[in-house]
Amino acid sequence: MDQTAAQPPSDAQPAVRKLTGTIGAEITGVRLADADQATAEQVRAALLAHRVVVVRDQYLEPEQQLAFGARLGPFTTVRGVKPNLPWPDLLQIANTGKANAATELWHTDGVSMEAPPSFSMLAAHVLPDAGGDTVFADMGHAYRTLSAAYRQRLRGLRVRHRAKMLAAAQPADTWHPLVRTIPETGERVLYPGVSHIAVDIEGMSVAESRSLLDFLFAHALSPDGMYRHRWRPGDVLFWDNRTTQHYAVHDYGDAPRVLVRLMIQGERPFEAPYGDDEA
Ligand SMILES: [Fe+2]
Repeated sequence: MDQTAAQPPSDAQPAVRKLTGTIGAEITGVRLADADQATAEQVRAALLAHRVVVVRDQYLEPEQQLAFGARLGPFTTVRGVKPNLPWPDLLQIANTGKANAATELWHTDGVSMEAPPSFSMLAAHVLPDAGGDTVFADMGHAYRTLSAAYRQRLRGLRVRHRAKMLAAAQPADTWHPLVRTIPETGERVLYPGVSHIAVDIEGMSVAESRSLLDFLFAHALSPDGMYRHRWRPGDVLFWDNRTTQHYAVHDYGDAPRVLVRLMIQGERPFEAPYGDDEA
């Protein structure tokens, strides 16, 4: 089968369509394999606006994924994760069983890094006949839907993240603000990290921290702020790793599932000063 047959002609115009009322959009009319910088900027703008961007029918090979990704920024990789492809910036994500996976729970990529990735780009290669969806939660929506009184309580708090699973040889704590500001938009989003890696909050006991973090995770992971991506062959999925959490659903047993991930370098998380009129 000609895998490029479903791709639009080279003079097609990009169009963005929302996939839920809150998070996620599909871009049509683009061919990532030979996209120019203007197309990359459209993907970036859609990522900032919609958090998750789906581009169908691309069938991207690794070199093409790297070429498009380079238009979004320099690459980064998670400390302690060994490369498993000939291209060290790419990571093959394959079905190794739920017990061995670090991605099949709610998380944001690289939270224990000083400067976690901004964007992640995932290309489908082998998919199960059914299942293996990836679910995203919108952390800007999570922040906005807290009361003003609760948001004020979170100001200035920092979370200690401890990477146990991925960097066991070199355990180190990383502190990030619980509410971070996205520099391109000025938006504030919740950034609690990963529940079992978030050790405590600066100035609070572990029990106090746990209570607050457990509430925030439960609040953030509401279906009101979610997009569930049902993978199709040829899909390429981008997400803003700073403003989302994601969860790889493992409901396909031992069936093969192979995707290739590329991550773009992000800024060190920061919390901008609050304005006098900011609730
Ligand atoms: Fe992930």
